[in-house]
Amino acid sequence: MTPVVMIPGDGIGPEVMAATRHILAAAGARVHWIEAVAGLAAMEQHGEPLPDATLDLIRKHRVALKGPCTTPIGKGFRSINVRLRKDLQLYASVRPVQSLPGIKVPYQNVSLIVVRENTEGLYAGLEHYVVPGVVESLRLVTREAAERIVRYAFELGRNQGRRKITVVHKADVLPMSDGMFLAAAQRVADDYPFLEFEELPIDRVALELALEPARFDVLVMENLFGDVMSDLCAGLVGGLGLVPGANIGARYALFEAVHGSAPDIAGKGLANPIALVRSAAMMLEYIGQREPARRIEASVRATLQAGQGLTRDLGGDGNTTTITERLIANL
Ligand code: NAI
Repeated sequence: MTPVVMIPGDGIGPEVMAATRHILAAAGARVHWIEAVAGLAAMEQHGEPLPDATLDLIRKHRVALKGPCTTPIGKGFRSINVRLRKDLQLYASVRPVQSLPGIKVPYQNVSLIVVRENTEGLYAGLEHYVVPGVVESLRLVTREAAERIVRYAFELGRNQGRRKITVVHKADVLPMSDGMFLAAAQRVADDYPFLEFEELPIDRVALELALEPARFDVLVMENLFGDVMSDLCAGLVGGLGLVPGANIGARYALFEAVHGSAPDIAGKGLANPIALVRSAAMMLEYIGQREPARRIEASVRATLQAGQGLTRDLGGDGNTTTITERLIANL
């Protein structure tokens, strides 16, 4: 049994987490869950959205699976997700984006991975009032973090048998920060002559993703660009309810669905668990449990293909229970 810290989260979080645990158990995953709190649940119990006890548990066990958390806006709390990524140095956000059967979208041949730098850029959170009514936000870029994330992307490309790494930037307008990011990428690329290296400005990437997404393989970029592009890419294959995500660092790894806590459907049993289930499958791969991970991914595809018991966001008339039953039956 591998210990994994489990944070159910808020809104639909506990519903999709319960479904995910059932499916993992049915797939034969050998996981010992250690529950921790974050988000509104933590506010109620500890008076803060990300208690030290939760961070300590992740530091101890190193791997976590997290449901979406609601960040109280305008109450002086920093985003829980941004804090988790910074405090645990989860520097690489990894989002595999693949076309799925049975999902009606314009393209059926998408197979790419978005790798996003998770600790710097505008999301470093360095902003201050210059004078009342004027705020300055600093976009932090360091050579070290740039090299680290690009190297991560190349290593991922190598390990997963990918052919091309595209570095996404805006170096023409931001010659110092993005110029340095790009130069770092070019240096790293020299160590991987067997992988094709491409560099493109972010606006061009946005255009080409809309026109011909299959031309991309692994995309790597800084934080804000990655935040926007990874959601755009999720949309290409059917939306946030389907796409898994991982935040990886040198010591710790946190896996989570990329959608939010969906307060509009919370508590109604309507949530689609697939994004969290697939994030959990990524987690199983990470901890070396390849067989249950493979079974889960195959079951997701078979379930979507058959189209029975699907939740409303997928065009079905089912609910969390019916889709979970189908996912277990198709394992
Ligand atoms: P959201 O992703 O929660 O919801 C957007 C729309 O997608 C809603 O209509 C919702 O019903 C639907 N949706 C999302 N996930 C679904 C699922 N699994 N099954 C079926 N439908 C689904 O985004 P929103 O409304 O912007 O954010 C709500 C809250 O979530 C906010 O407090 C935000 O801070 C938080 N959030 C947390 C994240 C995290 O913890 N990783 C990520 C994004 C948002």
